[in-house]
Amino acid sequence: MRSLQHLAILLLQLFLLQGVVNFGPRLAAAYSGASATLFSVVPPGFVCPEGLFAFGGSVVDTGNSLTAMPFASRVENLPYGVNFFKRPARRYSDGRVIVDYLAQAFKFPLLTPYLRSIDPDFSRGANFGYAGATIIRKTATYTRFFFGVQQNQLLRLKQNSLQVRSQAPALAGFTVTRGLPRNETFSRGLYIIKFGLKNDLSELVNSGALSFENATREYVPEIVSEIISGIQNLYENAGARMFMVFNPTLVGCLPSTLTAFAQRNVSFAEDEFGCVAEWNDLQNAYNCQLDAAIKNLRPTLPNATIFLADSFSVQKKVFSNPESFGFKKEFLLKTCCGYGGEYNYDEDRKCADKYEEDGITTRVGACESPNDYVSWDGIHDTEALSRIYAQYALTGKFLDPPVDLSTLCDLDLSKFSDSTFAEAYPNATLLD
Ligand SMILES: *[C@@H]1O[C@H](CO)[C@@H](O)[C@H](O)[C@H]1NC(C)=O
Ligand SMILES: *[C@@H]1O[C@H](CO)[C@@H](O)[C@H](O)[C@H]1NC(C)=O
Ligand SMILES: *[C@@H]1O[C@H](CO)[C@@H](O)[C@H](O)[C@H]1NC(C)=O
Ligand SMILES: *[C@@H]1O[C@H](CO)[C@@H](O)[C@H](O)[C@H]1NC(C)=O
Ligand SMILES: *[C@@H]1O[C@H](CO)[C@@H](O)[C@H](O)[C@H]1NC(C)=O
Repeated sequence: MRSLQHLAILLLQLFLLQGVVNFGPRLAAAYSGASATLFSVVPPGFVCPEGLFAFGGSVVDTGNSLTAMPFASRVENLPYGVNFFKRPARRYSDGRVIVDYLAQAFKFPLLTPYLRSIDPDFSRGANFGYAGATIIRKTATYTRFFFGVQQNQLLRLKQNSLQVRSQAPALAGFTVTRGLPRNETFSRGLYIIKFGLKNDLSELVNSGALSFENATREYVPEIVSEIISGIQNLYENAGARMFMVFNPTLVGCLPSTLTAFAQRNVSFAEDEFGCVAEWNDLQNAYNCQLDAAIKNLRPTLPNATIFLADSFSVQKKVFSNPESFGFKKEFLLKTCCGYGGEYNYDEDRKCADKYEEDGITTRVGACESPNDYVSWDGIHDTEALSRIYAQYALTGKFLDPPVDLSTLCDLDLSKFSDSTFAEAYPNATLLD
């Protein structure tokens, strides 16, 4: 081990001398505890991200869908947001979603949704995540903002930012370009891709219209290839050089999935957690193909770093030992904010839906301690679970290559728990 470390130090010095690696003092500091693998996995030209660009569905969305469709969704109401923001905050969660944690760790402002028209701040990137968004076009029924459209929005943002920067007179430039990314941010940003398979497949599969077997054969390869071509597109046309792709979490464990199966009265094989086992098989096939496709892609994109974050395995780890992550085992398959039934989930009375009881109109409310639960509303994660995905990805755990960005890039994860909104995001403003 010692000789390995010496060899690595020697290599580092050699690289620094040749000017091939220019990490500066950060890497040198980070290096002391790091292993030699760092050099083989972080390509020359790697710089710590100076912005974030996020693509995905509701677990990424920080306001696009509720900005596009105002006053149309129950999600605009409490108890959404109650656990952290103390108001709905246009998120599909009791609090923060994963990109909120990432922005916080990098000490960036809250990631602005691309569609926000009032006082947007894209200086550190933009969020294209849209609730219900699918990866492929043909399954895009709920919203048309599927992955390809989100990529086009990014390209338009880049086109217009550069346009404004080239037109802005030198002196007036400051006000005109305030809130826009620097030109370089597009090539030095981290491109986060976090879709579930849920939006693409669960309606078809959970209703029985599409068999698991057919979904695996007919859809999985197409979905994987769409992720890959998305990365290629962003690399070639946006100049993106760093990606973090999250694989989908366990669709078969969602209270909404379990309730759908129960209501169809079809028996299903359960996995060790009581989830729909066939969903796991489908997802294992997907993960295998995604992993292989990314391995094939890497050598074709010079100077790009493509991280694959294995959220699927992280969630399995959480489910195997919930108490050690602060969750209650008896709540793993139950919804925090829901209305009765085996999984505390009712399609007709979802979280924040209005209903009448004893002549009084009220809304479906939350459990007492959302942090005991992994599922907030039967479909979306609690902020407690999202926090774990963020922590694992940023510290290089269940991440390929296993780079610890928190050390390498001096990230701040200290306000992930036990801090108020004002403490965690000192200068942030939230719109209703
Ligand atoms: C990769 O990075 C090196 C060093 O920064 C640079 O000289 C080279 O042009 C880059 N290659 C591509 C394809 O971007
Ligand atoms: C940004 O890109 C535009 C368009 O290529 C260019 O005109 C402008 O000078 C660039 N700004 C900076 C600061 O490099
Ligand atoms: C599965 O695919 C086969 C062959 O294409 C087709 O005959 C069958 O109807 C499909 N069934 C379901 C439920 O997807
Ligand atoms: C499932 O079973 C319940 C109780 O037996 C019945 O009320 C319901 O209509 C059934 N649902 C379907 C979709 O067959
Ligand atoms: C908040 O704003 C103050 C005053 O403009 C600034 O000094 C501070 O760095 C900002 N903090 C963050 C986290 O952005």
